[in-house]
Amino acid sequence: ETPLLVDRFGRTARDLRVSITEKCSLRCTYCMPEEGLPAIPPEELLSAGEIVRLVALAVRELGIREVRFTGGEPLMRRDLEEIVAGCHAAAPEIPLAMTSNGIGLRHRAAGLAEAGLGRVNISLDTVDRAGFARLTRRDRLESALSGIRAAGAAGLAPVKVNAVLMRATLDGAPDLLRWCLDEGCELRFIEEMPLDADHEWARANMVTAAELLDVLGTRYRLTAAGREDPSAPAETWLVDGGPATVGIIASVTRKFCDTCDRTRLTADGMLRSCLFSDQEFDLRGVLRAGASDEELAQLWRGAMWQKWAGHGIDAADFVPPERTMGAIGG
Ligand code: GTP
Ligand code: 5AD
Ligand code: SF4
Repeated sequence: ETPLLVDRFGRTARDLRVSITEKCSLRCTYCMPEEGLPAIPPEELLSAGEIVRLVALAVRELGIREVRFTGGEPLMRRDLEEIVAGCHAAAPEIPLAMTSNGIGLRHRAAGLAEAGLGRVNISLDTVDRAGFARLTRRDRLESALSGIRAAGAAGLAPVKVNAVLMRATLDGAPDLLRWCLDEGCELRFIEEMPLDADHEWARANMVTAAELLDVLGTRYRLTAAGREDPSAPAETWLVDGGPATVGIIASVTRKFCDTCDRTRLTADGMLRSCLFSDQEFDLRGVLRAGASDEELAQLWRGAMWQKWAGHGIDAADFVPPERTMGAIGG
């Protein structure tokens, strides 16, 4: 029995989130700057082989039970299928998931399912074309919608849809829920966190879960149904008595750090114990210096032991981390 990824607050990390690129096909205002993030020099990006080695080690030595690929946008990597297939071969019992914006997924969903991907979460904030174009700075609603449908058809199900709560799209929330229920997707609304590249987030201006419940309440009867499992970020609500549901991820007003079970790897191979971490551990450097699996595992355990209790978004002295959302992957 090798020691797991535990921290000083008694939490165990079981869920690994791997960002594989900082590139993206969209420019959502709550995430990316208009011009995109500066490119990572190719030699600093983890290769498919390196990602597979680290994932395999995390499963074998550290007790990771679920792996999610994030970005930027994971579909921006041509070798995504190779990464998925490699991880699946190395750890066939571990569910592999992806968080994506769905752009171009239509052409790759079947191949990804075949490579061993289990399910996808797709970011979609509105089903209004003009609203989508304003928020993402790209007029590509149809591509996102067809990506969602293709994912479902390829068996990457249940498809979850993520919608970040923004004032500009709040009025469209009931229509978005209608669309997701009709398509058989699980919609979750997410409170915006201060990780936007433009640093425009303001606590006083953010849309809260409470406000969303008021807006949805004009069209639907919602009843609280708790969390799917204790470490799930989303709280579930039954829609009109069920079985249809909608989720709310209230990262700011109802933070869930006490039950956090996540650890993160950036596209350039840095380990982060928390989304808001001010500390990173250079796994890539150690790996390329020829470290053994046991040495890498030891570094990872040490990093998690230093994980803090949770984010301090509501603290007076809160300072956002240097990396913004597009470079952490959510
Ligand atoms: P499921 O396992 O399908 O529920 O995935 P998930 O909700 O954990 O992942 P996803 O990538 O879909 O993220 C949805 C939202 O939850 C995003 O806004 C993430 O940034 C946020 N989120 C995910 N993990 C954490 C976390 O550990 N802390 C905080 N504060 N937010 C998180
Ligand atoms: N706050 C909360 N969620 C965000 N996401 C992107 N930026 C933010 C933010 N500032 C969401 C995306 C995606 C997930 C990985 O994180 O919508 O679904
Ligand atoms: Fe975990 Fe950090 Fe997210 Fe809190 S903010 S749930 S500690 S990753």
